[in-house]
Amino acid sequence: MGRVKDSVSSYIRYRFSVQSKFSLHSPFIYKFWADVLKDDTRYPAYSTVKQLRKELLRDDRIIHQVDFGAGQTGRPQDGKTVKVKGIARNSAVSAAKGRFLYKLVKFNQPSGILELGTSLGISALYMSEAAPRANIQTIEGCPETAAIARSNFEKAGKQNISVITGSFDEKLQDVLRLMPKPDLVFIDGNHRKEPTVKYFEECLPHLHAGTIVAMDDIHWSKEMEEAWKTIIAHPKVKVSVDLFYLGVIFFREELSKEDFVLRF
Ligand SMILES: C[S@@+](CC[C@H](N)C(=O)[O-])C[C@H]1O[C@@H](n2cnc3c(N)ncnc32)[C@H](O)[C@@H]1O
Repeated sequence: MGRVKDSVSSYIRYRFSVQSKFSLHSPFIYKFWADVLKDDTRYPAYSTVKQLRKELLRDDRIIHQVDFGAGQTGRPQDGKTVKVKGIARNSAVSAAKGRFLYKLVKFNQPSGILELGTSLGISALYMSEAAPRANIQTIEGCPETAAIARSNFEKAGKQNISVITGSFDEKLQDVLRLMPKPDLVFIDGNHRKEPTVKYFEECLPHLHAGTIVAMDDIHWSKEMEEAWKTIIAHPKVKVSVDLFYLGVIFFREELSKEDFVLRF
């Protein structure tokens, strides 16, 4: 109940802080707003991912899920048995966030994408549809979930996505060695403050001026709000955009340090 009340009040705070397009003086940020937030084209790729989501939402297979979720330490817990359809319902990005990621990738044209938190692969598929030639490395701690994501990518004919099975703590450095300069990073895993800030800081030396970091669920809990505030205060961060459901960070040198709140 506490979290629901907190999230209602943080949503109200967000809505009162939303800025208009007239506050966007940088041509780059204006283009981000127009190309990513305002583009409501129904791209054909959306239907491809929608079809897979539909299948997963009917999938009665039962798997053993190793739980790395929020409220925990980032270390795997004992886990539980769950239906694939339950994971599809509770963990995958919403269609609206998926469309956002698709447009963000189209906007950024990344060659290398790093994702923390694959789950069944829905968000990675949106990104792959937008950049079929990009190298996508996505990390998932739960082996059975990772196996289903792999088979989803295979079924969808995606050869540009590699799923790395293991905890972010163990695998992030390995993946950053494979992809030393990612152009886009999507953080969608552990929802606690300390590990979220730590993963961001581990990525930081590898990010270049054109990298975009997207962080899911920045208002999901007090801890995630604190993580977001800590991250955007970092001197290397130039512009942050709070979209309530997720946040986006830019590092381009020509931008002046500014924190925006925009309508998702
Ligand atoms: C919210 S889901 C990701 C959803 C996915 N991005 C999508 O939209 O389809 C988060 C995933 O991250 C994994 N995860 C969370 N913390 C982790 C950690 N510390 N190490 C490895 N995996 C982790 C969970 O097992 C879960 O599958």
